[in-house]
Amino acid sequence: MKAEKEMCGIVLAGGKGTRLGELTNVISKQLLPVYKQPMVYYPLKTLKDMGITRILIIVSSVLQEQLFYSQLGDGSKFGLQLSYKIQEKANGLAEAFILGEEFIGESDVTLILGDNVFLLNSKITPVKNTIFTYKVKNPSAYGVAKLDIYGELEDIVEKPEEFISDNAVVGLYIFTSSVIDVAKRIKPSKRGELEIVDVIKIINNEQYINVEEISGVWFDCGTPDDLLECAEYVRALTKRTNRDTLLR
Ligand code: DAU
Repeated sequence: MKAEKEMCGIVLAGGKGTRLGELTNVISKQLLPVYKQPMVYYPLKTLKDMGITRILIIVSSVLQEQLFYSQLGDGSKFGLQLSYKIQEKANGLAEAFILGEEFIGESDVTLILGDNVFLLNSKITPVKNTIFTYKVKNPSAYGVAKLDIYGELEDIVEKPEEFISDNAVVGLYIFTSSVIDVAKRIKPSKRGELEIVDVIKIINNEQYINVEEISGVWFDCGTPDDLLECAEYVRALTKRTNRDTLLR
């Protein structure tokens, strides 16, 4: 029987954080607090809950690498094996796979966005070539998946101006190492970024993409309102239930 490939993780925690204004002049948004822990702890916990412990954190500068390292170290206190890589410029989500080429090697890889907080009802078992959706009221703020009547991916559009569906594509993507070559093949979009949706389209055409709806609650903490709403939600959950949201 063929052995399952190892699954590694990448947390994308670079970017400019411009939507958070003065909050992110000095510190990356992913180090800002979400109730009792820094934001990046939540995606790290999501990966750990998926059984993924070998993780690359992509940050925006040497200074941020130092700050992340001061906070998380090599990850051993959380049972993780963390390494770091700098993305000089916010060239887009798909650049994570190019920057992570050596780290990924032959492994399967789960990419999670450093500002995405998942409060899931059940643990996710990683299945390769899977993306996840969450129904939202404002799909034009996200990547959006249009599904056919069988629930298969028909189209995926980044921040669509016209309504195509209310299925936001959340920042959690599971691929095989073949994603590295796909990322190298795509060209920057009009906004100058290597778009994750372009990677997903190619993999869907040439292989397949599973689409799963998230069971639980999902936040993208990209704006001051999102950040506050997420922290309030985590606070309420912590006070009212036994749910453990902490990375330990
Ligand atoms: O949150 C889910 C959404 O995330 C998806 O629905 C979209 O398809 C996807 O493009 C992304 O949209 P955002 O507008 O929220 O992306 P943002 O620029 O905020 O970047 C998301 C995270 O990735 C954030 O933690 C910063 C980091 N990042 C972003 C870029 C563009 C990097 O580290 N490097 C980059 O080059």
